[in-house]
Amino acid sequence: MPRFENQTVLVTGGAGGQGASHVRAFHAEGANVVIGGIDARRGAALADELGPRARFVRLDVTDESSWSAAVRATESVFGALNVLVNNAGVQNPPATIENTDQATWARILETNLTGTFLDIKAAAPALRRAQGGAIVNIASTMGLGGTAHYAPYVASKWAVRGLTQTAALELGRDRIRVNTIHPGVIATPFIHEPAAGAAAPIADFYSPEPFAIPRLGEPADVTRLLLFLTSAEASFVTGAEYVIDGGLLLGPALQADAA
Ligand SMILES: NC(=O)c1ccc[n+]([C@@H]2O[C@H](COP(=O)([O-])OP(=O)(O)OC[C@H]3O[C@@H](n4cnc5c(N)ncnc54)[C@H](O)[C@@H]3O)[C@@H](O)[C@H]2O)c1
Repeated sequence: MPRFENQTVLVTGGAGGQGASHVRAFHAEGANVVIGGIDARRGAALADELGPRARFVRLDVTDESSWSAAVRATESVFGALNVLVNNAGVQNPPATIENTDQATWARILETNLTGTFLDIKAAAPALRRAQGGAIVNIASTMGLGGTAHYAPYVASKWAVRGLTQTAALELGRDRIRVNTIHPGVIATPFIHEPAAGAAAPIADFYSPEPFAIPRLGEPADVTRLLLFLTSAEASFVTGAEYVIDGGLLLGPALQADAA
């Protein structure tokens, strides 16, 4: 039997990048999928392609009323919400702290951190009504250390860890598990297109070549971990942080001269 049959999964930012990979995989594993996001054209196209077990719902993660409408729509179309993937995220244009304006700081925190707070707040009652479920917040390896020129993004992803652990404590007795995934550099528009206000995409100045697994991550790499974490196989896992980065956080894999 498919792992997610009779379950409903909502993926924020589900129209493209890693989110679309997650949506397709949950759907292939039998789930009803709700693609939540601001990209209505691509979200609706993906839902149409997947058919009756898929819906696009307009959802701006920074807007509390948009969240309650999305959760209501999910329950009214599919009967329940069982899994929530908080995948939507934005990065700042690279700049030192001194050169980062407050509006940029606020914009990144609003989506990556407040969006995650609103996500848990809106979804928890629905997951409780479904007798339990799973939330996965997509953080970043940048949430596990400092990265020059990315202060707003780094701070937002660090904060998601604290929120996740707190939610895991508050919701565990309701059989709701809450975990984070920390991807390294994954081949999506996030690294191939410049962030709003940036001159160049990350892919122009990042190379995976020095690291233990010298390739970019693929969305499917993250999806496989996500499916495990949200499935019954991970029923004893909560408040945990899963790094998936091909060894990026280990630092360069310097090779001794074998000669
Ligand atoms: N690609 C990487 O290298 C990488 C590495 C670590 C973490 N991440 C994280 O992975 C997640 C997915 O990113 P991706 O790589 O697929 O990039 P992406 O840019 O392709 O996807 C981000 C998605 O978030 C959506 N989004 C942005 N603001 C939103 C809002 N206010 N409401 C709803 N949706 C909104 C966008 O429309 C888009 O669909 C993000 O949280 C990102 O921070 C990415």
